[in-house]
Amino acid sequence: MKVFHLSAECYPVAKVGGLADVVGALPKYQNLAGIQASVVLPYYNRKFVQESEFEIVFEGSTRLGRKRYDFQIQKETTDKLGFPLYLIYVPGLLDRPEVYSYPDEREQFIMFQLAFLDWITWSQQKPDLIHCHDHHVGLIPFLLQHSALYKRLAKTPTVFTIHNGQYHGAFGYDKFDYLPEVNMTYAGLLDWAGGINPLASAVKCCDKFTTVSPSYLEELSYNSNGLEYLFYLERAKGLGIINGIDTEVWNPQTDPMLPAHIDAQKPDTGKLNNKAALCERFGLPLDKPLVSFIGRLVVEKGADLIPEAISRSLAEHAGQVSFLILGAGDTVTEEALQALHTIKNADCYKTYIGYNEQLAHQIYAGSDFLLMPSRVEPCGLNQLYALRYGTVPMVRRTGGLKDTVLDFGDEGGYGICFNQASVDDICSSISRAITLYQNREHLDLLRKRMMALNFSWNQSAQQYINLYESLKPII
Ligand code: ADP
Ligand code: GLC
Repeated sequence: MKVFHLSAECYPVAKVGGLADVVGALPKYQNLAGIQASVVLPYYNRKFVQESEFEIVFEGSTRLGRKRYDFQIQKETTDKLGFPLYLIYVPGLLDRPEVYSYPDEREQFIMFQLAFLDWITWSQQKPDLIHCHDHHVGLIPFLLQHSALYKRLAKTPTVFTIHNGQYHGAFGYDKFDYLPEVNMTYAGLLDWAGGINPLASAVKCCDKFTTVSPSYLEELSYNSNGLEYLFYLERAKGLGIINGIDTEVWNPQTDPMLPAHIDAQKPDTGKLNNKAALCERFGLPLDKPLVSFIGRLVVEKGADLIPEAISRSLAEHAGQVSFLILGAGDTVTEEALQALHTIKNADCYKTYIGYNEQLAHQIYAGSDFLLMPSRVEPCGLNQLYALRYGTVPMVRRTGGLKDTVLDFGDEGGYGICFNQASVDDICSSISRAITLYQNREHLDLLRKRMMALNFSWNQSAQQYINLYESLKPII
């Protein structure tokens, strides 16, 4: 079975968040399970691309409104990722370093989708299924079925995975002429609330949509930034499949980014050595429980609550806890986190503003606790990396966090869970963390329990394959 994954991100080619981790790992595990899965990405002028070899496998030209663009399909030649990687190169549109935030982002992603459809229509590619990830490629299911240009492939089944239902990629009808030869009878399938909404259109037109955790599927019908009614209507078409992690990249026993490795059966020494290196680098005390946060500093992640929660905890538990934050995002939160460096007890607190993959690995390994006070968390990978590296996740019960973390107060549990994305709930879970840290035997038991869990992609990759099989067209 031949499947194309289409996405804006894929680790290690271009990563902004968890979407990249999923698209960089799921196809690899699917290939190991016996199907032929490839990834198609926009061309990014970034380190991975500059350092890899590519061959041009197709050249074409596509109209976007009144303008015509030449494009190339470039294939990575060494197969070092565990799946074939195709990049769509469009001079003037898809040839830049950043993944998002250009003023012509709509044009970039529409062009990406049109060039992909042109390529598979005019070349000998005959995918058995197309798997689209998030709104950037949400127009594919509609275009396949309702544009005369791509008629040859109209019966190709499509799966659409929602990694984040808060973002829809909506735009106005002034750009309708970017979509070629649309059958007007069906143009309503593009619409939501008077605009072209790629996420809504994908949900309406795909054969099956998936969410990255079962709980998030339920949440979409009451929290999806205006699409609640659509998710209520289309609920029978949805399926929640929890994300896995790439256990080769995230292996505490071999991870080359760590100063010391961690043995899952005897985690104490490895954890301590990692913590020592981290504390030395940041000038933090080694003998206090270290609570960390890694992630985008946005409201969805509850990042705006963190400065107050930290300042309150440092006052209430002076000298008993320390904090380390790694992230970038909303300016107000970045500034509030920087300002904390000057408060009383600030010697137990450090923030690193920016994106740093290696430091993230070191923080998962060297921290005692990882805080995730998310308001919305479709799956969350950080808690899975924390578990694998023997770090107790402290999570708000929502989405994938609810599905993957069991409170240590419950039988067989290992994490710290709380109900509200609020400063109060964060502070009381910090108090629980401090108490837990004092009981070294219990903490050691929890670390071993966490590190024995298996969140590898094997199982979920197979669930996607089963889904693909169920959608094969009957010939
Ligand atoms: P999201 O995709 O919503 O940001 P996830 O939990 O799914 O959240 O995945 C986040 C991914 O991005 C993880 O691999 C995490 O380690 C990484 N990450 C987030 N922020 C940073 C940062 N500032 N530096 C390094 N890695 C980061
Ligand atoms: C999104 C979600 C995150 C999820 C990731 C990968 O970015 O915010 O919860 O883990 O996608 O599916």
